[in-house]
Parts: sequence; structure tokens; C-alpha cells
Amino acid sequence: MTNTTYTNPSDHVQLRDLLFVACITETRVRERVKELGTMLTEDFKDKNPLFISILSGAFVFAADLIRAFDGTCEVGFVRLASYAGTHSTGSVQTVMGLEKEIKNRHVIVVEDIVDSGRTLHFFLDYLREQQPASVCTVAFLRKPEALVFPVRVDYVGFDIDDRFVVGYGLDYDGLGRNLPGLYQLVS
Ligand code: IMP
Ligand code: MG
Repeated sequence: MTNTTYTNPSDHVQLRDLLFVACITETRVRERVKELGTMLTEDFKDKNPLFISILSGAFVFAADLIRAFDGTCEVGFVRLASYAGTHSTGSVQTVMGLEKEIKNRHVIVVEDIVDSGRTLHFFLDYLREQQPASVCTVAFLRKPEALVFPVRVDYVGFDIDDRFVVGYGLDYDGLGRNLPGLYQLVS
């Protein structure tokens, strides 16, 4: 079979032409997302925040994060794209825009990974023009060594090495999003 995902006993995953190795377990991911949910609950419990999930990569993280948030909240989605294969294209496209009104709302932007910071930088500029009451950012992953655009990430799941990763919503050309833990490229 081609284009399928398989895991062998040594925790490696082959996705098309590339091999990945486990780096953060499902258990550790779950624990950390709960911790982030607790922090957000403390900071936003009575503010009815609007979580805005950046599609596609953040959908898995956002789904778990909102259920770890103990308070009323709403959820919206935008679709931005900047990656092709394992590399950034250098530009951000809005593929699907925001349908919710954000003026005077407390907005929590949910991102899968902050790599160069280009996507978040672009999106935060756009958001601020809509006059929200506040904006904060939460990223499941951050690659500090890869940061080019100055963006503040208020809540970070894990800081990782500057290596391509898949799993927990992140993909390699569409594959690997369903992996419950995180895997990094074997070079
Ligand atoms: P940035 O705009 O360079 O910060 O990249 C952010 C976007 O690129 C993320 O939302 C991801 O969709 C994608 N991306 C960056 N690094 C990775 C990676 O290691 N694996 C999968 N997708 C990535
Ligand atoms: Mg992606």
C-alpha cells in the first residue's frame, strides 16, 4: 500500500517518503494540554472568551483545549496556510476568514505551532484592527530557534528543536494529523 501510516514497535512512523520518530508521548501531551486549560481557566473564567483556532493544524489541540477550559466560552475558526510539504512558502494566505464578531471580545488565538512566527504575526495584525477587548495567544508548540517575526506567545505547550514534526493535528502533506503523540523527522 502507498500513502498510508504505520507504526512499528520502535516508535517510528513512515509517511510517504519520510521517516519520523516519537518525541512527545500521548500521555505527556494530554497532561500538558490539561495544564494549559487550567491556566486559561484561571485567567479567563468569567470573561466568556472567544477561542479562535487556526486551521488546519490547530483543530486537534483546540478541541482538547476548550474541553480543558472550565467556564463559558465560544469557538471560531480561520483557515490560514503558509506551508507546502516540510517548508514554509514565505507567504500567508487566508483560505477561510472569521465569521464571528470580535469587537470587545476577549480573544484567545489557538495555534498548533509557532515556527517563523509569520502566520501569527499576520493574523494578530488583522485581529487588532477589529478592536477586541484583549488578545492572547496559545501555541501547542514553539520552535524558538526558528523565530523570525516578533510574536509573543502567552501560553506555550512545548518548546521544541527546529525540526519538522507531525502528529496531534500537524501534518506532512496532509498525513499524520491523527497521531495522538508528536513525531519528529529523522534526517
Ligand atoms: P510560521 O508561520 O512559520 O510560524 O508557521 C506556522 C505554520 O506552519 C503552522 O501553523 C503549521 O501549520 C506550519 N508548520 C510549521 N512548522 C511545522 C512542522 O514542524 N510541522 C508541521 N507543520 C508546521
Ligand atoms: Mg500544516
